Amino acid sequence: MTFVSRRTLLKSAAVLGAYGTGLAVMPRLSQALTATDPIEIEALTGDVPLDGKQATRGVMRYGLAGQPSTDPSPPILRAKRGETFKAQLINRLDEPTTIHWHGIRLPNDQDGVPFVTQPYVYTGDRFDYAFSPPDAGTFWYHPHCNTLTQMGRGLAGVLVVEDDRDPVFDGEVVLNLRDFRLGSDSQFIEQFKPRDAAKTGTFGTLRTANWQPEPRYDVPTGGLVRLRIVATDVTRIYNLRLNGAEAQIIAIDGHPVPERRALDMAVVSPGQRLDLAVRIADSEGAEMVLEDIRPSTPKVVARFRAVGSSLKRNLGDLGPLAVNAGVEADLSNATEIPLLLSATAENSARDSICGSIGYSFWAINKVPYPGDTPDPTAPIADLKLGQTYLLNVENVTPHAHPIHLHGMNFKAISSNKREVQPLVSDTYLVLPDEKVQLALVADNLGDWVFHCHIIEHQKTGMTGYFKVT
Ligand code: C2O
Ligand code: CU
Repeated sequence: MTFVSRRTLLKSAAVLGAYGTGLAVMPRLSQALTATDPIEIEALTGDVPLDGKQATRGVMRYGLAGQPSTDPSPPILRAKRGETFKAQLINRLDEPTTIHWHGIRLPNDQDGVPFVTQPYVYTGDRFDYAFSPPDAGTFWYHPHCNTLTQMGRGLAGVLVVEDDRDPVFDGEVVLNLRDFRLGSDSQFIEQFKPRDAAKTGTFGTLRTANWQPEPRYDVPTGGLVRLRIVATDVTRIYNLRLNGAEAQIIAIDGHPVPERRALDMAVVSPGQRLDLAVRIADSEGAEMVLEDIRPSTPKVVARFRAVGSSLKRNLGDLGPLAVNAGVEADLSNATEIPLLLSATAENSARDSICGSIGYSFWAINKVPYPGDTPDPTAPIADLKLGQTYLLNVENVTPHAHPIHLHGMNFKAISSNKREVQPLVSDTYLVLPDEKVQLALVADNLGDWVFHCHIIEHQKTGMTGYFKVT
């Protein structure tokens, strides 16, 4: 792919008048910044032995400046609800990048989308992010620039937002789930195949959790462990099951569920999160296995081994998670917005800012983004601050699409395919032929991207944005 140079960027800023001025006048939520120094996050390239055979060259990593680590997986960042979180991105890649904070409701100019909310961060440059997360839970961070390559090569980390009122567990394991596409020589192979991009997306060849194939974690015997699972893969949808321990779903996509229920199997698609409370078995040495049962032969995601003498804890002892103050949708006054997810007949190569992969296979409301319309920068819809909207999403393709909205949350209200729970979320897996209504209160000013989180779909047209004024 080609990147826009600084000079072309200036030119295109003039062409894309909407964005050019939008950057300058975009409103920010007011926030009281504290004096604490930002954490410095470096985006780097390096050689990492991912498959345990030999080093894979050109792995992209996040690291904390001044804190060299032998763990190639991205640092787990921690923020506190309502407290200012500051991070400075230092770009040591040889291409531009940004950081998007997936699922966080933040001021628009902190959202990390090049040309929509901020300029590129070029090689050697830095960018300061600061926001105070209003919701506690499991979130994540990744680039929004040449995304298929940058995420595919490893730029995707977990951001935990804590709340001191949350119940105390005996342990916590964060699982960042993703694949890498490697050849038999352990080196990266082409990140996608056009034929697959036009279908389910191109799958990786090496499954990992925290950058390791089938890792095993020690957990306290008879204890209560919080598992924070994040699907950061660019393509794969997981059907997760835990064998050998009792588990309850306590939060989905960062937000506590109104009623905990036992985990039977949970579908977690790209962009989504699943928080489990697990009661570890009582016998020391017992093994628990987290599996993906979506493929016909189940695959091990991670293993856990009970260590120590039993803590004899009880899932029932666990208090509730602190709730995230939601925004109440006024459904009686909602404006409906049709959103048709379709395939496009047109699949020629097309140039685009920030990471086109050269094809157009998918569209929202018949417009592949950036579309061949008089105004390629037009929003899908203009939303009014404080208004309630019903997004009538209809998937007329034979493939599932995890559709994701930046900066705001929605709640699924009804579906023609299944019983939906009215959960607060930022990512909904729209099944083939599903029609789903997502209620949304436009409570955050700015331009908010809406796209499929199968990155090949995002990059070949299934993207757009809402403008909230
Ligand atoms: Cu994970 Cu545009 O998002
Ligand atoms: Cu999709």
